[in-house]
Amino acid sequence: MTEGSTAPVTSSSFSDAFLARLDGIVGSVEREDKLRDWNSGYHPENLAAGVAVSPRSVDELRGLLALCNAERVPVVTHGGLTGLVGGTASAPGDLILSTRRLASGIEIDPIGRVAVADAGVTLEALQQAAANHGLSPGIDLPSRGSATLGGMTATNAGGIEAFRYGTMRDRLLGCEFVCADGTLVSDLARVLKNNTGYGLTDLMAGSEGTLGIVTRVAIRLEPLRPVAATALFAFATIDAALAVAQNLRDRFGDHLRAVEILWRNYAQTIAGAHGQSLPDIGDGAFLLLAETEETADGDSQGRFIAHLETLYEQGLITNVIVAQNSSQRDFFWLIREDADALYRMWPDVKSFDVSVPLANLGAYARTIEPKLKQLADPLGLYIFGHLADGNLHVMVGAQDDLPRQAIEAIVYSGLVEIGGAISAEHGIGLEKREALVSFGDPARRQVMATIKSALDPNNILNPGKIFMPASP
Ligand code: LAC
Ligand code: ZN
Repeated sequence: MTEGSTAPVTSSSFSDAFLARLDGIVGSVEREDKLRDWNSGYHPENLAAGVAVSPRSVDELRGLLALCNAERVPVVTHGGLTGLVGGTASAPGDLILSTRRLASGIEIDPIGRVAVADAGVTLEALQQAAANHGLSPGIDLPSRGSATLGGMTATNAGGIEAFRYGTMRDRLLGCEFVCADGTLVSDLARVLKNNTGYGLTDLMAGSEGTLGIVTRVAIRLEPLRPVAATALFAFATIDAALAVAQNLRDRFGDHLRAVEILWRNYAQTIAGAHGQSLPDIGDGAFLLLAETEETADGDSQGRFIAHLETLYEQGLITNVIVAQNSSQRDFFWLIREDADALYRMWPDVKSFDVSVPLANLGAYARTIEPKLKQLADPLGLYIFGHLADGNLHVMVGAQDDLPRQAIEAIVYSGLVEIGGAISAEHGIGLEKREALVSFGDPARRQVMATIKSALDPNNILNPGKIFMPASP
C-alpha cells in the first residue's frame, strides 16, 4: 500500500491511572507522538484515538481486553489497514489494538495441507512460507504485502482467486479468538469436516472486529503451480467478456488462476499514472485479464494459445495479447492491481464493491454506468473487478459535494432483490452502515444485533461499525 493520508492524531482522553494499568499489561503503549510515524491507511480517522497498544502475546491481549471491558473502553482492532470502508476508524476515547506484534508464528503442515498462523502475519509472508512447501493459501489480493490474516478473517477478504477457492471464510478451517471479556476461545480445528455445533469460525469471518479478536487461524493450502500464460483480451461488450471467462473456466478448471475485468478507461488511467499507455489491443471497451497455471504434463502455454486460436475461429475473441515475458505480465497486473493510483488522483474517491449474479451482470453494468456518468464527472468513473464471481469495484472520483447516497441509489438499487450483495469483499465498516439499513433485510440485521449483544454486551468491540450507533 502507498502512504496514507495525514491522520489527525489527537490527545489521549485516558486518565494516567488507566494508561499506567495498560502499561502494566502490554508494556508498549504507543502515544500520539509515536503514532505520527505509523502508516494511517486509507481512512483519515484510523489513528484518531491517539493511543495504541500492540500486544506481544495472546495473554497480553486477553489482559487488556478484560481491562477495557471492565472499564468500558472501546477497542478498535487494526491489522494491515488496507480496508476501504472505515472499519478501523477510531476516535478519542477509543483504544487502538494493533495485531502487528502477533506475527511470529507460521506453521505449515504439508501432509494435511494446512497452515496455522498468527493474526498479525501478512498474506505475503504466509504465501512465501507455503511456497517453500510447494503450496499456496489459495487466496490472493493486491494488498498482500500489508493485509494481515487476522484482518482478512475479520473482513472475510475475497480477492482474485475467490472464484476457484472461495473467500477467507472458505479458506479457514478454524480460528482462535479472544472475546470482549478476555476469554480465549479455541476453534482451531485443522480438518475439513467438523460438525461440532455452531460454526464460530464462520461467524468470526466478516465480523469486522465487533464480536471478538482473532489471534490465530488455520488455513487450507492448495498446490502452488507456476504461471503458464497471462493474457489481456479486449471485448466490445461485457457479455462477450463473460462468455469467454466461462469458456476458460470450463476449459482450464482450477488451473485458471484469474479472470479480472477492467473497463478500458480504468486500465488507461492506471497505465497513464505510471507514464505508460495500453498495448495496441483494438478499441474494445472491456479488457479481460486471464491467467492459467502449468499442468503436470507440460506445454501449458502452448495449449492455452491453441485454445485461443479455437476461440478466435469461433468468433468469440478478436483481440488478445499473451504476455511474452515477465515484465509484460507485470504490466498487465499493474494496470489491474494498482487501484491506489486512483486514490492518488482523487483523494476523496468513493469506492463501492458489489456482487452481481453473473446472469444479471451485463444488464446491471449497462444500467448503472450511464446513470453514474450523468451524476458525476464522466472522467471520474472507474469500474473493474473479479469477473468470474461477479464482484465489481465501482470507484467514483466525484466532487466533494456529491452525496454518497446519490451514488448508492444507483449502485445498490435492486441488487439485493436479484440476489446480489451491496458489499462483496470490503465489508460494512462505517461507510456502508446506512446502506445496510436502507438496502438490507431488517430481520437479518436484528439477528446480527442479537449476536452482537450476546458476545459483546458492553459494546466495547469496534462500536459503531456495521451497526448505526444506538440513538441516545
Ligand atoms: C482490488 C481491491 C480494491 O481488488 O479489492 O483491487
Ligand atoms: Zn477486489
